[in-house]
Amino acid sequence: MNYANITGWGKCLPPAVLSNDDLCTIMETSDEWIHSRTGIKSRRVSHVSTSTLATLAARRALACAGLDADQLDGIILATATPGTLVPNCASAVQQALGARNAAVFDLNAACTGFVYALSVATALVQTGMMKKVLVIGAERLTTLLDWAKRDTAVLFGDGAGAVVVEACAQQSGLVANKLGCDGEAREILHIPNFGTDRIRFADIDGLFTFNFEGQEIFKRAVRGMGEAIGAVLAQANISPEQVDLMVPHQANIRIIETLAKRMNAPMDKVMINIENYGNTSAATVPIALCEALEQGRVAPNSWLLTAAFGAGLTWGAALIKW
Ligand code: ACO
Repeated sequence: MNYANITGWGKCLPPAVLSNDDLCTIMETSDEWIHSRTGIKSRRVSHVSTSTLATLAARRALACAGLDADQLDGIILATATPGTLVPNCASAVQQALGARNAAVFDLNAACTGFVYALSVATALVQTGMMKKVLVIGAERLTTLLDWAKRDTAVLFGDGAGAVVVEACAQQSGLVANKLGCDGEAREILHIPNFGTDRIRFADIDGLFTFNFEGQEIFKRAVRGMGEAIGAVLAQANISPEQVDLMVPHQANIRIIETLAKRMNAPMDKVMINIENYGNTSAATVPIALCEALEQGRVAPNSWLLTAAFGAGLTWGAALIKW
């Protein structure tokens, strides 16, 4: 059987920093409220498109893997905030990179998008259908925010992360995964009018609203990711103690802490960067993975565990042999 090793990685974080203190100048909130409830101190705001963020992260991942763009067989772009729906956003990345031999598609599983996309890319490589696939998580969520709505405006940020997945003979890359969705809870995290369900001639003022039940999301996130992690560890016959580093979706520090506690994992085995970037949806996991690698926190042959949840409510986990 082929394995699907991760051979390159890269990230792109827009330089414009919006701190909690900056937000206090435009809404009634405080650094104390935001930080104590979410773990967030600042987030990045992009002035360029989702595909540009994705392309910049992708270029770094390709350079890291030592590949030229025309060697890619596929590009999967996980995003819930594509610059265009038709054509897909991945085609803009293909064009910008010059990846003329790559089949391309967008994948929307909201914040779980990267875990889904890595799973799909791994399957494509394992079956031999493709040999080199670029997997990107990129989001520009701040374009959807209503800055007058303090309950959601403080939570999100922009960014992109990418990895290159290549066929390989030794056990490496994603070796176990579990994906799922609680479709009955679609309404608890939902952006109305952001699609063709909208009433065609409705007078929409240009701002989208998040339908958002934070406490219900919290409970379901912990349950969904917890079950997915249990399934993944059982598939690979790995105990929680054998996991060297957890790289979870960065939506809320309290969710991450609750998850770590359930796994009996000390916090120094958990990668956390939510303080600097907020929730960048499908981009949190590849950005956090990239930073963990840059910080020397990933040793050869180590076990990495990632888990995420997002609108849908989608959830998933993946075990990666580095
Ligand atoms: N600043 C100050 N006060 C605020 C703010 C703010 N930015 N936002 C809300 N409040 C107020 C509310 O108005 C409310 O006031 P009230 O009691 O007078 O009505 C009070 O703070 C408490 O609000 P809650 O929504 O109950 O706050 P909670 O403790 O649940 O925290 C949070 C909200 C952080 C969103 C939490 O529910 C949570 O972590 N949810 C799960 C994670 C999540 O949903 N992340 C978002 C991304 S979703 C994803 O990644 C897929």
